Amino acid sequence: MKLLVTGGLGFIGSNFVRWSLKRYPTLRIVNLDLRTYAGNPANLKGMEGASRHRWVKGDVADPKTVDRAMKGADAVVHFAAESHVDRSILDASAFLRTNVVGTQVMLDAARRHKVRRFVHVSTDEVYGSVEAGESVETDPLLPNSPYAASKAASDLVARAAFITHGLPVMTTRCSNNFGPYQFPEKALPLMVTNWIEGKPFPLYGDGLNVRDWVHVTDHCRAVDLVLRKGKPGEIYNVGGTASLTNKKLVGLVRGIMGVDESLVTPVTDRKAHDRRYAVDCEKLRALGFRHETTFELALRSTIKWYRDNAWWWRPLKNRGDVKTYYKKNYAGRGRA
Ligand code: NAD
Ligand code: TYD
Repeated sequence: MKLLVTGGLGFIGSNFVRWSLKRYPTLRIVNLDLRTYAGNPANLKGMEGASRHRWVKGDVADPKTVDRAMKGADAVVHFAAESHVDRSILDASAFLRTNVVGTQVMLDAARRHKVRRFVHVSTDEVYGSVEAGESVETDPLLPNSPYAASKAASDLVARAAFITHGLPVMTTRCSNNFGPYQFPEKALPLMVTNWIEGKPFPLYGDGLNVRDWVHVTDHCRAVDLVLRKGKPGEIYNVGGTASLTNKKLVGLVRGIMGVDESLVTPVTDRKAHDRRYAVDCEKLRALGFRHETTFELALRSTIKWYRDNAWWWRPLKNRGDVKTYYKKNYAGRGRA
């Protein structure tokens, strides 16, 4: 099979490329990625089956580039996106272009190229904050951040491509991922790398927001399952195995790393900070999905990975554009 993956230099996309090439010895992957601030060829360093992988540098919102990359593809897995909520609060423009226009361009090209399967990778954040219970796939979309709004819009254009044109699109909506190669702007890698450096972790608001953590390999397995067995036009929630307040997560990581409480700084909350996400995964389980990782073990091995791979994250944190972003996002926040 020849697979077109978009965003395969990012956190989840690169884990998916690595995992898939190892799992399927004859699989070939074309990886269309613009290499934005979050795209990093080092994420694929030393991977098994590298000769069956080809990176095409380009924009998913550019129809010509997409056409070239999609030639001969049997299926598409679309990860490419602007993915960080805090950045979308500072400036939403790239989110609309990549996440919405980019998804439409990908869907149109898939139709022209008669692609047999298309997985659109989305997020549980499209449901908005869930005070109680669990979101099911038919729930209304009530996104609160510009990031979530752009992903909700992309889910709707994916749905329209199925309804209008019969394009065999499946959408996945996953909860918070963690694992190796996650950009050190997201909560968990920021926390772990700051503490390795002896710096505080800025905890937003009262720290009681709840996220449902899934190891990135389990997410990759879910996406692969939906690619192979999902029903065209359907949406599949992908949840984790640990529903935790940020305070609780901070406590667990502090315990594993032996970090003092003084390295947690409560800061002014994120605007429109969703209180809780939770998804019902019955549909995915009916396809045969089971988690293979245990949260505590996966958390320990992830922390160890960041300890052992400072060569990967240190240059990213020291990059000028990343320092400018940290300043913009955190400088104005007083202590909560
Ligand atoms: P990421 O920010 O780490 O990576 C995004 C990748 O997309 C980068 O390699 C970047 O270079 C590429 N990209 C961005 N704009 C592009 C463009 N215009 N053209 C081509 N490539 C472009 O993101 P991630 O955390 O790996 O998330 C991947 C996908 O999974 C996203 O669609 C995201 O919404 C979704 N998702 C993420 C999480 C999570 O916890 N990280 C949870 C659920 C869903
Ligand atoms: P994040 O990794 O940005 O994922 P998302 O907002 O998409 O769920 O954040 C996870 C949680 O951690 C979220 O509730 C916000 C919180 N958070 C902090 O408390 N401090 C931080 O510096 C960051 C980046 C996030």
